[in-house]
Amino acid sequence: MSELILVTDDGAVRTVRMNRPEKKNALTFAMYDALAAAVEGAQEAPSIRCILLAGSPTDFCAGNDIGNFAQTTSTDEEKPRPSRRFMHALARNEKPLVGAVQGNAVGIGATMLLHCDHVVASSEVRIAAPFVGLGILPEAGSTLIGPRLMGHARAFSLLVMGRPLTAQDAKAAGIVNTVVPPAEVEAEAMKAAQQIAALPADGVLTARRLLRGSRDELIDRIDEEATLIHARLSSPEARAAFEAFLSRKKTP
Ligand code: COA
Repeated sequence: MSELILVTDDGAVRTVRMNRPEKKNALTFAMYDALAAAVEGAQEAPSIRCILLAGSPTDFCAGNDIGNFAQTTSTDEEKPRPSRRFMHALARNEKPLVGAVQGNAVGIGATMLLHCDHVVASSEVRIAAPFVGLGILPEAGSTLIGPRLMGHARAFSLLVMGRPLTAQDAKAAGIVNTVVPPAEVEAEAMKAAQQIAALPADGVLTARRLLRGSRDELIDRIDEEATLIHARLSSPEARAAFEAFLSRKKTP
């Protein structure tokens, strides 16, 4: 397993931690593959009853690595990429998923929260999905599950207008369960994961499956979004947005 994704099993809870803090946990292809492997592997492990998804104290995840986006063009053959493997793993996942969110949760860092069953967020969290402004489109099935979770108007604001959510906004929108001070996020999330893991396993899996609804519909939407995004990666808007980020000057 890559050191950029750390997987630790503690009793019945598997912690999957994004660990590229110097890049705000932006996800490379290798990181997507490792994340997918960790989630897929949990399906085959009867001892794992809950997955805890975490980042670093300063950032949950700043989204897809924009350098990777910039290297991909629409003329490349559209083939299943590691990002798609991870999204499919989330859609197929049957184990309860708990999110421990601190700092920035951007792009896929925001949309993966929609696949979580319980989210603990720091009071300082910033959740943003600036897909359309970047010249691309919302992904990870967020166009299907986003409006179901938070209603169309809030989903439009987050996923199309790119307006960020504070922790309290996210709680009001139904994406976050509990807001705690930054230092308490990990312990609170682990407590919730252990509580879930202590429940009758079959009841949890069955109830979760019923609550989550059709997996095929979600996978179809992930694929539809991915095809549309792929076609936009070489658009002038997307190229300009990626270039602007990659060449931006920082204030000293
Ligand atoms: N892809 C590639 N690198 C990224 C990244 C991303 N998505 N997000 C952050 N980084 C890198 C920065 O380039 C910087 O690298 P450097 O130190 O080598 O220059 C480092 O992470 C720290 O980021 P920085 O922007 O300096 O931190 P910040 O605290 O000022 O801002 C964010 C944090 C998350 C608000 C900002 O980095 C950001 O907007 N990132 C892009 C988010 C995004 O649009 N993701 C894609 C969505 S589809």
